[in-house]
Amino acid sequence: MTNKSKEISISEKLLRKIKGKSAAIGIVGLGYVGLPLALAFAKAGFNVNGIDVDPKKINNINRGISYLLDVKSEQLKKAVSAGKLKATSQSKTLGTVDVIIICVPTTLTSTKEPDLTYINVATNQIAKYLRKGQLVILESTTYPGTTREVVFPVFESTGLKIGKDYFLSFSPERVDPGSKQFTIKNTPKVVGGMEPKSTKLAATLYSNVSDKVVEVSTPEAAEMDKVFENVFRSVNIAMANELAMLCEKMNISVWEVIKAASSKPFGFMPFYPGPGVGGHCIPLDPYYLASKARAYDFHTHFIELAAEINETMPDYIVTRITDALNSRSKSVKGAKVLLLGVTYKKDVEDLRESPVLRVIELLLEKGTDLHFHDPYVSEVKMKNKVLKSIKLDKKQLNSHDCVVITSDHSCFDLNFIIANSKLVLDTRGATLNFKGNNILRLGEPSKKEG
Ligand SMILES: NC(=O)c1ccc[n+]([C@@H]2O[C@H](COP(=O)([O-])OP(=O)(O)OC[C@H]3O[C@@H](n4cnc5c(N)ncnc54)[C@H](O)[C@@H]3O)[C@@H](O)[C@H]2O)c1
Repeated sequence: MTNKSKEISISEKLLRKIKGKSAAIGIVGLGYVGLPLALAFAKAGFNVNGIDVDPKKINNINRGISYLLDVKSEQLKKAVSAGKLKATSQSKTLGTVDVIIICVPTTLTSTKEPDLTYINVATNQIAKYLRKGQLVILESTTYPGTTREVVFPVFESTGLKIGKDYFLSFSPERVDPGSKQFTIKNTPKVVGGMEPKSTKLAATLYSNVSDKVVEVSTPEAAEMDKVFENVFRSVNIAMANELAMLCEKMNISVWEVIKAASSKPFGFMPFYPGPGVGGHCIPLDPYYLASKARAYDFHTHFIELAAEINETMPDYIVTRITDALNSRSKSVKGAKVLLLGVTYKKDVEDLRESPVLRVIELLLEKGTDLHFHDPYVSEVKMKNKVLKSIKLDKKQLNSHDCVVITSDHSCFDLNFIIANSKLVLDTRGATLNFKGNNILRLGEPSKKEG
């Protein structure tokens, strides 16, 4: 047999395993991205091994208990008891699987520079066990160049050769937490490999769980695609936030304007104002691109400007609360303020980078008697204080000087909230179908205050 035919046989063998669903899959990092993906592959018929450093998560998964709202325990239990999904902390499992998908966090340093520690650790762990016939896919959001400059050299240092012995691709995760409409299945998956076989193997793999796979020519194109998608959101949300602040001054409702603009069938898509951006993507990922761009002496003005506007929104919300109280002859200091929803967006339990945490911090600094209610979060730990979610009843609502809708969870009974509160400040446009002199909204004139 020639070397060339041996090369073909390694990738062909893996391709056949993937097509026949006999390829074992290892998912590194079982968080918001990794766990739903692990379950999707298990449901598609693959044997999936989840690898995580958090023993609590491993224990819960192996008992069929989900820690994410988007993953139902019932489905997890089914996959675990069918033997399709197992979780472990043992990194040696990496050597036993055919495909490894990396879903570890990508965070920022305190100076907002990319922190690739998790990717570096996972890459080194994988390199220890990397063997012929494996496909590795990086899913963590990161700057263009990470797969080639950070992951690839570590794998090559093992002596194995890309495209011949092993395969490496980047495929961004596009999960929309809390969404009932968009799932792994109906959200197209973008794939870019280090070389054509890597792309083909990864694309074939994802076609088992996703209706559509979009192939791009390099990992850099796939990495850039993901950060572009997140920058796009960040910039457009910032524009909606800026417009909201302007509309208040101009006596126009930003919600009415966005609704009218949305009637345009082309060239417009709606984004909405709010207390800022949160979650593990939008507040962080644009900085990954901005930092990488600086290495090319290039300044990404849109990214910086959008971040600046979005990051000032919590201060702006606190100003609105202060003004609303002031016009009712109340000082913000000592006022009873109740925040409804502390997660970064509706219908999720995720507190990461939630702008509401900054609202809490600012209100506490001002001496507010602050409380919150969130059906998905039992407590919030601040520097010197732990706030516990309070029960939402008539008495509680009425005892507060201002009730602020900070995350508009679908389960909130707005009729009840509005009917029993002295003053409601809605930062999400949740109350647009409600009338009442006690309702104020972000992006609407504040003249009603008082
Ligand atoms: N959450 C989202 O909505 C979302 C959407 C798209 C993309 N992403 C990207 O996906 C990546 C993961 O995000 P997430 O929200 O799932 O993070 P997460 O914090 O929820 O999960 C990451 C998991 O990785 C584990 N982990 C860390 N180091 C590990 C290691 N060396 N070995 C094994 N496990 C390890 C952690 O214990 C954790 O369980 C990030 O790059 C993020 O930007 C997230």
